[in-house]
Amino acid sequence: LRHLTTLENLPRATIERLLDRAVSMRDACAHGTRKLDLLAGRTILNLFFEPSTRTRTSFELAARRLGADVINFDIGFSSTSKGEELYDTLHTLEAMHLDAIVVRHKTSGTPDELVRHAMSGVSVINAGDGNRAHPTQGLLDALTIRQHRPDFENLTVTICGDVKHSRVARSDVHALSALGTKNIRLCGPAALMPADTELPHCQRFTDFDQAIEGADAIIMLRLQKERMAATDLPDEAAYFQRFGLDKRRLALAAKGCLVMHPGPINRGIEIASEVADGAQSRILEQVGNGVFVRMAVLGEMLAR
Ligand code: CP
Repeated sequence: LRHLTTLENLPRATIERLLDRAVSMRDACAHGTRKLDLLAGRTILNLFFEPSTRTRTSFELAARRLGADVINFDIGFSSTSKGEELYDTLHTLEAMHLDAIVVRHKTSGTPDELVRHAMSGVSVINAGDGNRAHPTQGLLDALTIRQHRPDFENLTVTICGDVKHSRVARSDVHALSALGTKNIRLCGPAALMPADTELPHCQRFTDFDQAIEGADAIIMLRLQKERMAATDLPDEAAYFQRFGLDKRRLALAAKGCLVMHPGPINRGIEIASEVADGAQSRILEQVGNGVFVRMAVLGEMLAR
């Protein structure tokens, strides 16, 4: 694997290898190894043009645990604010001999553009671009599901919320489909569903009670207000009534259904606290798995 910009069309064997590698990383950390030297001498740049808590921190932690040097590029104090163009920034940073750039950008396709414009052998890892892809989130969600429900072929997974703007939903569908899951349900207000031509093999629902019935895992999504016009913002109380996950709705799902959310969560808008903090919640497990998945991806791409 040279770059990771999307999970779309990634072979099942590659996804499974990355998940297995993540488990090995988790086991190494569980046995007290706080630092491996797999990436000693490598330099990784975190280039985040959009805010992040989980992804940026876990990429940094993953890189450090593997012995790499990490630079967190601060966009606010960079020459981007003086009008420097993205590709001039890229070439400037490449001249400092980086091994990998982890990039998040509001514009879909930016990571692939960086791959096309890169002049050195730098690897590009997508940490989320527009509504297109968030491949390491897709992998960590797959890993979290596999820990509890390894039989992907026989799973029913419901993804609910602002699917239209969600790169997580797209990468989750790509990961789950590659691993053999056929019953993937998308649910949300009609205005927040992707075009019919996108993700055509998923079932679509606008009634959350129907979408949740018998589900083995539910992935809740945040309303991405930053990608909506002010006039398109739903009323939050009404939204929670129709699409919020609470105890009553969770009872419609299969017994022991996994409750997931990529975060950040908005309590009382897409998920009730009683569910987010409840026994079936895997939300913090997802966060923990994010470190191991990112260790696996960095190790796969950069270990000598
Ligand atoms: N899941 C996710 O991408 O979270 P952050 O925006 O905090 O990185």
